[in-house]
Amino acid sequence: MMKILGIETSCDETAAAVVEDGTTILSSVVSSQVAVHHPFGGVVPELASRKHIEMIVPVVNEAIQKAGTTPTSIDAVVATQGPGLIGSLLVGFSFAKAFAFGLGIPWLAVNHLEAHINSVFFDPDPPGFPFVALLVSGGHTSIYHVTAYTQSTLMGQTRDDAAGEAFDKVAKILGLGYPGGQIIDQLAAQGNPQKILFPRAYLDKGSYDFSFSGLKTAVNRYVQTHPDDYQQQTADIVASFQEAVVEVLTNKLLQAALSKDCAHIAVVGGVAANSRLRASVRQAAAQKGLTVHMPPLALCGDNAVMVAAVGHHYLQAGKRSQLDEDVYSRAMLPAMDRHLSPPSVKR
Ligand code: KG4
Ligand code: ZN
Repeated sequence: MMKILGIETSCDETAAAVVEDGTTILSSVVSSQVAVHHPFGGVVPELASRKHIEMIVPVVNEAIQKAGTTPTSIDAVVATQGPGLIGSLLVGFSFAKAFAFGLGIPWLAVNHLEAHINSVFFDPDPPGFPFVALLVSGGHTSIYHVTAYTQSTLMGQTRDDAAGEAFDKVAKILGLGYPGGQIIDQLAAQGNPQKILFPRAYLDKGSYDFSFSGLKTAVNRYVQTHPDDYQQQTADIVASFQEAVVEVLTNKLLQAALSKDCAHIAVVGGVAANSRLRASVRQAAAQKGLTVHMPPLALCGDNAVMVAAVGHHYLQAGKRSQLDEDVYSRAMLPAMDRHLSPPSVKR
């Protein structure tokens, strides 16, 4: 039995979890900073790192307590190395090093995107290899061909905004609050998704890249030229916007899976919580005879369970991190671009 403490502080959630053997969740604590950033309509990096400093010890303590264990019973610590906000990453990363050093146990740095991909194994019906995964979050929108727990090849990614970023920006344009994804998801249920035909960017034929900045601009222009025409208008705008995003994500994911002859597809990341996206992917996959796998809602957004889970596979393979390891803000540098192996990227 191997008890792993996972730590995640890449953006605006302070998260810790204790996971046994990479599969059994003993505890998962996520402390959200939404209240801190809400007045600013987006994450303020400087405030985020300060809040992580305040929360890291109580959150880790709570995770260990809820797991019914003690620090000295933890076998290894795993923390997110990047990509993310440098000041935020450093808090969890430095804490993990100190924790491991103090207890004399192994520690490991992992990639945030690889952690998201591994969150799908907490679906009660996990995928078999190989599968094609759509990673949709506030910072990333990419499609990967996944051949093993720690082997993912990038097939395509966004050329500008991430899907979650588009949700957040459209919510901001409409004055709906932050973060926008969940708010739009709920409001869209009352709107007509066919009311406004917003642009769908498919880019070059056969490309699995995305672009959402044109859509965001189109929504902005629409709002400016149609000031409050009628009562249901905001619901119709967000429903039509969401439909444009979901349609492109669904079609590209399905095409990517078919191109790789994969029977399994996965959707992970914060936007994987979107009810319309989940339904759309399920429906499209059923038509093609493919099976869909998604993490439970609680593990779509940032969490430490996925960090511990991916760490488990690397630890099993004998991988360890050194105490002089550094964090990195961006993963998408040439060396890592097409392959998500543990990076030695300098920020
Ligand atoms: O994975 P995540 O928690 O953090 C990043 O790594 O970015 O994703 C956060 C993103 C935010 O942009 C948020 O608006 C979006 O996920 N999101 C949603 C929903 N819930 C969260 N987007 C659409 N529909 C949702 N239900
Ligand atoms: Zn994330």
